[in-house]
Amino acid sequence: MFENLFRLDGKVAVVTGAANGLGRSFALGLSAFGATVICADRNLDGADETASLAKQSRGKAEPALVDVADETSVDAMWTKIAESHGRIDILINNAGINTNSMRTHEYSVADWDRLMAINLRGVFLNTRKGLALMLPGPGSIINVASILGLRGFWPGSPAGSISYSASKAGVIGFTRQVAAEYAVEKIRSNAIAPGWHGGTALGAERRAAASAEEIKTFEQAIHARIPMKHRGVPDDLVGLVVYLASDASHYMTGQVIAHDGGWDGAVA
Ligand SMILES: NC(=O)c1ccc[n+]([C@@H]2O[C@H](COP(=O)([O-])OP(=O)(O)OC[C@H]3O[C@@H](n4cnc5c(N)ncnc54)[C@H](O)[C@@H]3O)[C@@H](O)[C@H]2O)c1
Repeated sequence: MFENLFRLDGKVAVVTGAANGLGRSFALGLSAFGATVICADRNLDGADETASLAKQSRGKAEPALVDVADETSVDAMWTKIAESHGRIDILINNAGINTNSMRTHEYSVADWDRLMAINLRGVFLNTRKGLALMLPGPGSIINVASILGLRGFWPGSPAGSISYSASKAGVIGFTRQVAAEYAVEKIRSNAIAPGWHGGTALGAERRAAASAEEIKTFEQAIHARIPMKHRGVPDDLVGLVVYLASDASHYMTGQVIAHDGGWDGAVA
């Protein structure tokens, strides 16, 4: 009776930021459970590689070029998706960046604008188009927030930028409003709030600007703060994403789920 609860056969999914990191794991996970996955990224080679990996495992996947911050680029991608698939069932708004991190009074307006355009505006641009292809429903939207959208963190050295935290808190508000607006059509909107998951390119700008000593201090600070005492890896999030994408979570919307080795749930 329950054996197909998590299956996604026949469903069409769009994953933004699918060329690398978390997005690649999400795309491979959804395709392993039967979805046809559109791997969208501004890095087309990486998106193509993700789609090839899915196909090597007998999944159905295709790459798509998009700059999520650019309305023309987003519209062009969704026009193609509408032409080739006609509808979608699942959207994961995953593409995101962090910038070089400094304290708020030193943080540049240009970095604020650049990050917000991708992390928050990009979620809006893709969701409005995705919703149009999900209606009349049902559907599942999964937005990738962060524990930094739930709580502040300043371990005495740069960890995340003020714009990053603000964008991820914005993603959470966005998630809840969409949930309220579209619940009647059974289009669900949930957010995941990952803690630190290693092996991705996020934070590359910060790491490039930091000294070896600062990176060591940062690593020690976050490991000390995580109750499980280690970081996650992108594949750890696949089960949660498949759950939220599938009918197993059909009565759940408007929620934010931290996935963080206990970061948000315990005092370290
Ligand atoms: N890694 C973590 O620990 C962690 C924790 C919390 C939240 N997140 C969030 O997870 C998401 C994925 O991060 P990641 O760690 O896998 O980083 P990553 O840098 O490895 O992957 C991000 C992907 O997004 C793509 N991308 C960036 N800007 C884009 C744009 N304008 N248009 C299209 N694609 C774009 C990149 O090309 C890349 O493939 C981000 O939203 C990030 O904020 C990550």
